[in-house]
Amino acid sequence: MAQSFPATRSCPFAPPPEYEGLREEAPLVRADLPGSRVWLVTRHAEAQQVLSDPRISTDPATPGHPMAALSPAPVSEEERRARARFQQGQFIDMDPPLHGVYRRMLIPEFSVRRIREMRPVIQEIVDRLLDDMLKQGTSADLVETFGLAVPSMVICRLLGVPYADRDFFQSRTRRMVGAAPEAPQDSMHAAMEIWDYLDGLIAAAEREPGDNLVGRLVTARRESGELSHDALVGMTFLLLVAGHETTANMIPLGVLSLLRHPGQLAGLCADPGGWPLAVEELLRFHSIVDWIAFDRVATEDLEIGGQAVRAGEGIFVLGASANRDPRAFERPDELDLRRGARNHVAFGYGVHQCLGQNLARAELEIAYRTLFERIPGLRVVGDVEELPFKYGGPIFGLHALPVAW
Ligand code: HEM
Repeated sequence: MAQSFPATRSCPFAPPPEYEGLREEAPLVRADLPGSRVWLVTRHAEAQQVLSDPRISTDPATPGHPMAALSPAPVSEEERRARARFQQGQFIDMDPPLHGVYRRMLIPEFSVRRIREMRPVIQEIVDRLLDDMLKQGTSADLVETFGLAVPSMVICRLLGVPYADRDFFQSRTRRMVGAAPEAPQDSMHAAMEIWDYLDGLIAAAEREPGDNLVGRLVTARRESGELSHDALVGMTFLLLVAGHETTANMIPLGVLSLLRHPGQLAGLCADPGGWPLAVEELLRFHSIVDWIAFDRVATEDLEIGGQAVRAGEGIFVLGASANRDPRAFERPDELDLRRGARNHVAFGYGVHQCLGQNLARAELEIAYRTLFERIPGLRVVGDVEELPFKYGGPIFGLHALPVAW
């Protein structure tokens, strides 16, 4: 019998409990989705294979794409046109060669060198937020005051989006990712509201480009006719949403895990050179982005892990399962902050591998290190089991993390 899907987590420190059995059963297993059947990819090697196979598409318009079963069809011609406009520039949903056209425009902005240059800015943001938190007393919600604030401030600074507008885009992003897949219509409305907001912001940048990523794209690409207004809005939308929601969930979740492993945390505080490896392991261990980002469809008949997959069949890669595959990681269910889990798929793999990964790594490293340097007595208030985890959500994390010092 096919597995029902999606499965939900029941422990905050592990993938859904079904994953282990599925992974041992086969590298690809059948699952039922409302109205369609798909393949779930459970193992690390096959996950990398699917994510890097050019015969497998990510474009939701490709026949058989599994997300089509989860999204309602447009109800009017006007809505169809609005959606088509909205998809411009959102290269996460595009296949090569068009995908590469947009991605290449952004690569210099996220290079290792550029992110190294941004580290002092990230450090300053982290320090300022911790100053404010410490000034306000001896307890706080780490999600609101720190986890969400760090990446939001960083991405606003990078893009030239006013941070004063954060409530607007954070709440819409929350509705957008929180609504899928049960209430896709609400998710779409929230997305459209962010799109309209950025439409105005880009129009202003076109009149007067600032010294930021959007300003540079306007000057270099819009003026030469390489990039349309709508495509620039779409690219900015993708960066704004991808750039804060993921990291915002990873910061508090990582802090919680570090506090649960005081011996390993003490080792890091004594030898801060270990933080980059620790960040990789936290990304692997938590795998906050699971199947939702890894929706694909076969465009030809092919074979993966000995399993025949037909053209038009939908595929979900279970990133959280691949990252716990014992074939790729020894003692995969243990958090080992010195393991060096660089081959994890928490940032994906292949042409769509996370464009912002260097930035995310820098943010996580600076946020964790500085937090524990400045507040060594940090502790969680209350029972970990009672904390409000995002069990049903497509991106895992915490709604709140009460801490004291
Ligand atoms: C902990 C933080 C993050 C995680 C776990 C994460 C995860 C991911 C994953 C799994 C993908 C692959 C999606 C796919 O295969 O279809 C992805 C793509 C992407 N991410 Fe991230 N991400 C993070 C942070 C960021 C940041 C900070 C930015 C930007 C500022 C960003 C921008 C993007 C973009 C633009 C793509 C699309 C790349 C493409 O299609 O070529 N991400 N991310």
